[in-house]
Amino acid sequence: MGKIILTGDRPTGRLHLGHYVGSLRRRVELQNSGLFEKIFIMIADAQALTDNADNPDKVRKNIIEVALDYLSVGIDPTKSTIFIQSQVAELCELAFYYMNLVTVSRLQRNPTVKTEIQMRNFETSIPVGFFTYPISQASDITAFRATTVPVGEDQLPMIEQTREIVRRFNSIYGGDLVEPEVLLPTNAACLRLPGTDGKAKMSKSLGNCIYLSDTSEEVRQRVMSMYTDPDHLRVQDPGKVEGNTVFTYLDAFCKPEHFEAYLPEYPNLDELKSHYKRGGLGDVKVKKFLIAILEEELAPIRARRKEWEQDIPGVYRLLKEGSDRAREVAAQTLADVRRAMRINYFEDAELIAEQARKFRGE
Ligand code: TRP
Repeated sequence: MGKIILTGDRPTGRLHLGHYVGSLRRRVELQNSGLFEKIFIMIADAQALTDNADNPDKVRKNIIEVALDYLSVGIDPTKSTIFIQSQVAELCELAFYYMNLVTVSRLQRNPTVKTEIQMRNFETSIPVGFFTYPISQASDITAFRATTVPVGEDQLPMIEQTREIVRRFNSIYGGDLVEPEVLLPTNAACLRLPGTDGKAKMSKSLGNCIYLSDTSEEVRQRVMSMYTDPDHLRVQDPGKVEGNTVFTYLDAFCKPEHFEAYLPEYPNLDELKSHYKRGGLGDVKVKKFLIAILEEELAPIRARRKEWEQDIPGVYRLLKEGSDRAREVAAQTLADVRRAMRINYFEDAELIAEQARKFRGE
């Protein structure tokens, strides 16, 4: 059996560099590697509604933003199926059955859900849908028989939970659901790209993001005001590179050839870091280097976005076609699940015959 990818994002805003190095960039590589039989990329609007019930308009409007971000980074709709979660109703039915396989205390232990509950001040009034979204995520993954889920580190508990559900389902019902594997970034800087303020990860509410769709001028300003080493006041002072956002971003984005192109007086990143640590290297020079690198990476993404923006109805058509295709696949898995659970009564001629015999008194 070939390998299958399923992954996705909540449409609550445009996608940023954290998404890019944490997952998007990898998806495109995997897509183009030819190693996967099928690739499904889901815009998780139903999941976004679990904590935005009062703001459906935000979710609705960001679907197209996320779709444009996907297309602009190089997700190719002829190779990957891009679809909208809410348009695949089968996912809800699967989740409904999986709910019986998970305890409340298990959900309460999910570390990502825990932090999200705190961040949203949900402690006293957690929406049930939000609380159970890890179960719905298990449906997303298993409906497509995904073997591989490329996501950021924060999604690890979700995949763990999915694997538990799969094992339980298969052992109780003798099903053949697939236990997925997570694919995390291998580089520590990509695993957890900080916001431009150096604090937490990038998040829209903290205003510390660089978006894929930002203009070069916006990117330049963001980098110029980036958090570095607060004790590195004068150029000649020794500086710290640990916890220095500019260097963390270089760890995530810099390739050897960038030195030749933009900073030929240094052979590599290690040498640049040593100079900074010794003293004598100013923040502005390092920031300008980072701006050049980001510009090289983002310019083609921006250009592709501009093109797709000219054909928004076409993008919606593409999402509809993807959703229709996704629905067929999910419906097949749902039929298998119902069969395994023996709730496919009308297909079960043996059941009907047996009951008939019983009531005839045979
Ligand atoms: N939880 C993911 C996020 O917040 C989005 C998502 C929903 C997802 N269903 C998924 C990711 C299934 C991977 C697989 O970004």
